[in-house]
Amino acid sequence: MSAPDPILADALARIQSDIDGAFDALLPVPADTRARLVEAMRYAAIGGGKRVRPLLLTAIAELYGVERAVAVRCGAAIEAVHAYSLIHDDLPCMDDDALRHGKPTLHRAYDEATAVLAGDALQCFAFEILSNPDIIGDPFTRAELVAALAGASGMNGMVGGQMMDIVAEGSSFDLPTITRLQQLKTGALLAASVEMGAILGKVPVEGRAHLRGYARDIGLAFQIADDLLDHEGDADAAGKALRKDAAAGKETFVSLLGADRARAQAHMLLEQAIAHLAQHGREADLLRALARFIVERDR
Ligand code: IPE
Ligand code: IPE
Ligand code: MG
Ligand code: MG
Ligand code: MG
Repeated sequence: MSAPDPILADALARIQSDIDGAFDALLPVPADTRARLVEAMRYAAIGGGKRVRPLLLTAIAELYGVERAVAVRCGAAIEAVHAYSLIHDDLPCMDDDALRHGKPTLHRAYDEATAVLAGDALQCFAFEILSNPDIIGDPFTRAELVAALAGASGMNGMVGGQMMDIVAEGSSFDLPTITRLQQLKTGALLAASVEMGAILGKVPVEGRAHLRGYARDIGLAFQIADDLLDHEGDADAAGKALRKDAAAGKETFVSLLGADRARAQAHMLLEQAIAHLAQHGREADLLRALARFIVERDR
């Protein structure tokens, strides 16, 4: 991997600390027997993860002059959905993983019932943030944000992709089907991060086409990088178990294309993503660096 871009390194450190701070402030542990639930939510949500989705959202929002505190709260909402998706993804009935973010998965640290409930509650928590008038005053913006995140999370987004992913075990999917699967499973929440930044920035729908193009390309590149990591990455750096896709008989970009062609495809998507930003000057350098990081990351 090339040396980390200083703009990106600063932005990652800043968003990681902002998102931890937002979860810490918004998830106080109650003084009753729900404490276990909220402690579990905090265990999964605080102190782990790259925070790529909140970074995308805040970077787009910044491009359009949105107040950072508001964008960070919306970033916490999308990260809450992401954290819930990982809790459920790691459960024994799904990927059955023991390690996430370098520590035991939630159902290992607590138990399965608590993990299911913490995931459920994190999902609701995301929409509590977005529908809170004290965070976003304009009701139209609130409704648009809720619709964007709901659409990207459910059957037409992440959950739909997770279903296809499970069905993919043991069946042989072709490249267009795998592409569709990944666009739902991973691409939808990444695209929603970009879309939510544009909504906050009040970018009219006709002005969002280039942002959507950028989001689509990095979304696909992100999952190719995840598949490459699974195939040839370092588990200590990744903080999760690797070499699982092939063992599960899962068709991925790497199984279909081979590692070299998958890597070439990810780089082609990176160039394409950057080309979508041509109308922006240096102020979009963070988005360019983030696209590069998504393809070249080792975790
Ligand atoms: C991992 O997502 C799961 C996929 C959607 C491929 P990330 O790589 O963004 O996970 P963290 O939050 O940074 O660990
Ligand atoms: C999980 O994909 C994607 C979602 C949680 C939506 P993976 O199963 O490939 O993610 P990792 O490799 O466990 O992080
Ligand atoms: Mg999975
Ligand atoms: Mg998994
Ligand atoms: Mg994976």
